[in-house]
Amino acid sequence: MKAVAVVGMQFGDEAKGKIVDVLSNSRDVVAGIRFAGGNNAGHTVVFGGKEYKLHHIPSSIFHGKLSVIGHGTVVNPGVLLDEIRQLGALAENLRISPNVHVIMPYHIHEDVLLEAKKSSKVGTTGRGIGPCYADKANRIGIRIRELFDGESLNRKLEFLIPLKNSTLQHAYGWDGALDKDAIAMEYAAYGKFLKTYAFDGTVPEGTVLLEGAQGALLDIDMGTYPFVTSSHPTIGGALAGSGMPKADAVVGVMKAYTTRVGEGPFPTELTNEVGAKLRQEGREFGTTTGRPRRVGWLDIPMLKYAARVNGVTALALTKLDVLAGMPEIKIAVVYDRAGIQINALSHATDVADATPVYEIVKGWKALSQEQWNALAQEGFAALPEEAQEYVRLIERSLAVPVAIVSVGADRNATILRKPLHEL
Ligand code: GDP
Ligand code: IMO
Ligand code: MG
Repeated sequence: MKAVAVVGMQFGDEAKGKIVDVLSNSRDVVAGIRFAGGNNAGHTVVFGGKEYKLHHIPSSIFHGKLSVIGHGTVVNPGVLLDEIRQLGALAENLRISPNVHVIMPYHIHEDVLLEAKKSSKVGTTGRGIGPCYADKANRIGIRIRELFDGESLNRKLEFLIPLKNSTLQHAYGWDGALDKDAIAMEYAAYGKFLKTYAFDGTVPEGTVLLEGAQGALLDIDMGTYPFVTSSHPTIGGALAGSGMPKADAVVGVMKAYTTRVGEGPFPTELTNEVGAKLRQEGREFGTTTGRPRRVGWLDIPMLKYAARVNGVTALALTKLDVLAGMPEIKIAVVYDRAGIQINALSHATDVADATPVYEIVKGWKALSQEQWNALAQEGFAALPEEAQEYVRLIERSLAVPVAIVSVGADRNATILRKPLHEL
């Protein structure tokens, strides 16, 4: 058994979904396992002129591979059901670990009400992610397996619902009330349906993709706390959240520039018209919430950190086409912190008060999507020389090969410079 982890190296939305879809095409790949996060994630995969948006379901599903929602994730069963219905026959190979924790209605209320109360907001997706992981850590969470047994679910809710009603009403001033019987009925019905997808733990011999959500700088320990998510999008989370003992390769997915949704430090952020143009060209609006993404230049000190904490063995560079048409492109190569130069972060908190020092490189000409697609078929050497140089600069800076280059949303707009087994 071989495992290849695919992780985000920035603040999420690096196009992990697309890269997982492309890698899943390899004959070596037998399964994909989503290891962390929930429907705070939004992964877009495009092929055959159609765009698919996934929140819970692994992107390996589109190549008919066994696709497991691993025990490190949290799941909103209603959202999962909608996704399953949308996929139709494609969802046949979906499985869910019975140990996945369930996002309950009170988690969503807690998330939204807590954010509303905070003066310094995180800017969460409001999907109940933090409260669900908190209950998991506090050992009062409900797992998918508990939805299979209506009796035991009911007993657990008899304890939990009064507790949650009391917290929501008294601590947060909520004027609603949770109805235990209605919730018990709804969730037992989800259980009945999801039981048919329960994962029995068997993965066939071959390569397993560990499918990341979010990104390194959103890691609860290694990210820009408190402006992070509540799980580990990094390699440790990939192993703990999938149950795999090791990863043989780690593919770090990075956008050719940087984006961030929600609050928190962002040293290379562009709040001017250059940023507005990048947001427009890159269609940088959240897959989950539709919020405009904050955009900025590429940040090498941050990427060096993400490469190190993940042990990245290969890079997948995405959205290179979006930078086209810019006369010049800036890249943050070091940070200046109070006169001290920082080449690579030692911890994500180093991004606070960091002033990026930029290197300016020549841009490349604008091309239509059809032209990019055609260039992708010809291979790396067909790309504009300046774009090739941009890729080489990243490889030199991070000392990791760029194995995959993506120049469009479609799965065909991809250049594979190395096969899967060489990553
Ligand atoms: P994820 O959360 O990391 O899976 O990324 P998202 O799916 O949230 O965001 C990436 C967006 O960029 C999606 O809308 C993709 O369809 C799109 N995309 C992926 N790769 C490319 C690319 O190389 N070029 C362009 N222009 N768009 C891309
Ligand atoms: P994918 O998998 C981008 C961000 C939120 C917020 C912070 C905490 O599509 O890359 P949460 O709801 O998790 O408590 O919010 O994390 N965030 C993401 N940003 N892409 C994601 O997932 C994200 N998942 C969470 O915007 O700042
Ligand atoms: Mg996304």
